[in-house]
Amino acid sequence: MSKNRIFSGVQPTGNLHLGNYLGAIRNWVRLQADFECIYCVVDLHAITMQQDPEDLRRSTREVAACLLAAGIDAKDSILFNQSQVHYHAELAWIFNCIARIGWLNRMTQFKEKAGKNRENATVGLYVYPNLMAADILAYKATHVPVGDDQKQHLELTRDIAQSFNSAYGVDFFPLTEPLILGAATRVMSLRDGSKKMSKSDPSDYSRINLTDPADEIAKKIRKARTDPEPLPDSVDGLKDRPEAENLMGIFAALADIDVDDVVNRFAGAPFSKFKEDLSALSIDVLSPITAEMRRLMDDPGYVDGVLREGAEKASEIAEPIVKEAQDLIGFLRP
Ligand code: AMP
Ligand code: TRP
Repeated sequence: MSKNRIFSGVQPTGNLHLGNYLGAIRNWVRLQADFECIYCVVDLHAITMQQDPEDLRRSTREVAACLLAAGIDAKDSILFNQSQVHYHAELAWIFNCIARIGWLNRMTQFKEKAGKNRENATVGLYVYPNLMAADILAYKATHVPVGDDQKQHLELTRDIAQSFNSAYGVDFFPLTEPLILGAATRVMSLRDGSKKMSKSDPSDYSRINLTDPADEIAKKIRKARTDPEPLPDSVDGLKDRPEAENLMGIFAALADIDVDDVVNRFAGAPFSKFKEDLSALSIDVLSPITAEMRRLMDDPGYVDGVLREGAEKASEIAEPIVKEAQDLIGFLRP
């Protein structure tokens, strides 16, 4: 079986936010020290919901710029956009013929995104997880760093790999493991501690965008929903206080310490004091990334070049793997 290899993806739709950063991107940066890493801006996934062409182009560059600004090193790691490497779509078709309708029917992300009018959802949205499995398995990736919400898709990826292997009597695709790392694997909305922080939330006050200037970050944290009690003096005291738990989790993740330590530091303090410190910390961590991202966005030629070179390197890895899968299936090829 192949050696350890990391693959992960992020959609170029709307604003990247603090949840993406703490749940995914920051871990991607750190994993570069120990693994071969392949990171992908998944534009094929983005069009499962209708996208304006100009917005899609801009978002693709923006997400790539953000990843570079956060510390993805395009010399050591591979960074590219999915549509430039045709093997993803080819392998996804093969997986459409492996995955079962019953498996896809269980996917909670589809149910959430399709909403009530399921008949009107695109077929692409339905088979989205098969394409995600293709992203990962086209490189025989062994580990996939993601936020908590992607666990179910990773289980499906393993089911597809196993089913392909057993259909063709081979030990070809690895059983990929999710890597769900850090103190903030599920960052919640600043307006409602029971909802995930999300790109698609209509309220911009629900999230901290990685493009927000410092004064905007401070304002959003000041306005973040809280309860009237002072902060607890033990982690148990966070039970049934989702907003306090979320904000303290964010603090812990940004400061790279345990939630225990945050609780000890702010035991009995009013939210106002805690929010001031959280705001200063957030600005400290995020503003260098935002500044570098702006600089890169002024140089789209550079970003496009990184993606093009990344796509070439990615293709070299995927090509022999997808071709071998095609041989196993029995496709004739030149
Ligand atoms: P997406 O924005 O859906 O393309 O997600 C990109 C990455 O960010 C995935 O690994 C997600 O699991 C992660 N992610 C998205 N939202 C959150 C959140 N609120 N908390 C933690 N991780 C998240
Ligand atoms: N589905 C992921 C998300 O919404 C994005 C994604 C697409 C992905 N392909 C992937 C993540 C492969 C990890 C590996 O966040």
